[in-house]
Amino acid sequence: MKDWDEQCLLAAAAEARSKAYAPYSRFAVGAALLTNSGKIFPGANVENASFGLTICAERVAAVQAIMAGELSWRALAVVTAGPQPVTPCGACRQFLAEFAPELEILLGVVDGGAGQHTNLRALLPAAFALTEDR
Ligand code: THU
Repeated sequence: MKDWDEQCLLAAAAEARSKAYAPYSRFAVGAALLTNSGKIFPGANVENASFGLTICAERVAAVQAIMAGELSWRALAVVTAGPQPVTPCGACRQFLAEFAPELEILLGVVDGGAGQHTNLRALLPAAFALTEDR
């Protein structure tokens, strides 16, 4: 039995998705990051007319947790429109790996029932880390 509620985390990501600002791609993404203390931090993608400035939903959620002093993470849910779920982009994988290299990830679609499980180690097996001998 899991110690956290998957449907609850997917619902939080779906709710966060409604806050997406995505007038350019029209691809809204919602994320919800569950901390080991049991708190949930939401995120949605925020686009910009200068496209490269866009921030993904996953990093918005991560930064919200960080700013609340919550650096110990249990799981991340990501929700998009269907039919298939998406995985976090490469930049977000590296960003998340800084804090939780083994993070459990749940991928869902709106009104899609159970999510698909993966984890950050599987998605980014060779995350960059600064070494001491520079
Ligand atoms: N996007 C995310 O929010 N998360 C991802 O993992 C991939 C892409 C957003 C960025 C942009 O606003 C839109 O999806 C299309 O790329």
